[in-house]
Amino acid sequence: MEFMNKVREMAKEDIRRIVLPEGDEERTLKASEIIKKQGLAHVILVGPESAIKENAKNLSVNLEGIEIVDPETSEKTQEYSNAFYELRKKKGMTEEKALQTIKDPMYYGAMMVKCGDADGMVSGAVHPTGDLLRAGLQTVKTAPGISVVSSFFLMQVPDCTYGEDGFLLFSDCAVNPNPTAEQLASIAISTAENAKNLCKIEPRVAMLSFSTMGSASHELVDKVKEATRIAKEQRPDLMIDGELQLDAAIVDKVASLKAPNSKVAGKANVLIFPDLQAGNIGYKLVQRFAKAEAVGPVCQGFAKPINDLSRGCSVEDIVNVVALTAVQAQNN
Ligand code: ACO
Repeated sequence: MEFMNKVREMAKEDIRRIVLPEGDEERTLKASEIIKKQGLAHVILVGPESAIKENAKNLSVNLEGIEIVDPETSEKTQEYSNAFYELRKKKGMTEEKALQTIKDPMYYGAMMVKCGDADGMVSGAVHPTGDLLRAGLQTVKTAPGISVVSSFFLMQVPDCTYGEDGFLLFSDCAVNPNPTAEQLASIAISTAENAKNLCKIEPRVAMLSFSTMGSASHELVDKVKEATRIAKEQRPDLMIDGELQLDAAIVDKVASLKAPNSKVAGKANVLIFPDLQAGNIGYKLVQRFAKAEAVGPVCQGFAKPINDLSRGCSVEDIVNVVALTAVQAQNN
């Protein structure tokens, strides 16, 4: 994806510290060496030091210039444990459980970011998405003024003129199973901001449904209508419209029939799905059937950048997501 080449160049301009808490994992180790060589970020591998070093040796990965932190022996473990206990004590956290939790590299890494000892975190080559999100939600939490953490995918569809010549943002495809209308509005606004600030495109945001501008009546449609109303009210400066079916959102001819007065219909480059079932299935359909390149899920709404990987990720995917996280950290 051409956009990712730009992201790599941006990452190099101001090096950020990125934690990889699956430090002894094969693809993570290989990616770390590439990230170091290309100067994309300062990598901090978190995990059992002996396993990290042994696996690196077996894989002929050069660890020079890559920081290793072992939560079992680190002098910061107690400090992070105390801070984590303070954050979670109202939720029934005990000091003993906090120490045990912080020794989990995922939580240790998240606390490094929380406490300013790292600028961002990338994980998920081994752990499911929910594990990473929970660690982030319990520590780093949401950015000021943002109520919901969500995610987007950068989609590059080959031989396609929809969106920005086949480049679109899809959201939310990874985090919120069933967002409320308020949350959906917040997801739309956050994704529009990322389209503008990170991807440097003018966002045209379609709130997707199985109905276009009142063509069907159902409580599921009502939620999308309400989300559209809230998003427009909160951000009249953004081009957001709905409810729109997918074809009315991206195909000019369909839009001129079904939503002739919409500035977004037929030209949308940001697609907001009504729930996680639609979003997750939607991006995978485009990825598989249209052979689209899908980068993400890129998380948005955290106070500091934390990003997920697919468990089927390649070494290149990890390098890309680390570069993207570093750029998010630059903008933070
Ligand atoms: N934004 C902001 N805060 C949130 C969010 C959110 N999206 N979700 C939960 N929270 C809050 C909770 O209210 C809670 O607050 P607290 O501090 O008062 O405790 C805190 O964050 C921690 O939440 P938990 O209760 O520990 O987590 P929860 O059980 O709510 O799970 C999670 C949150 C992990 C995001 C869950 O909704 C989930 O599993 N989502 C789906 C992930 C997934 O499987 N995606 C599909 C695969 S990804 C792919 O295919 C690319």
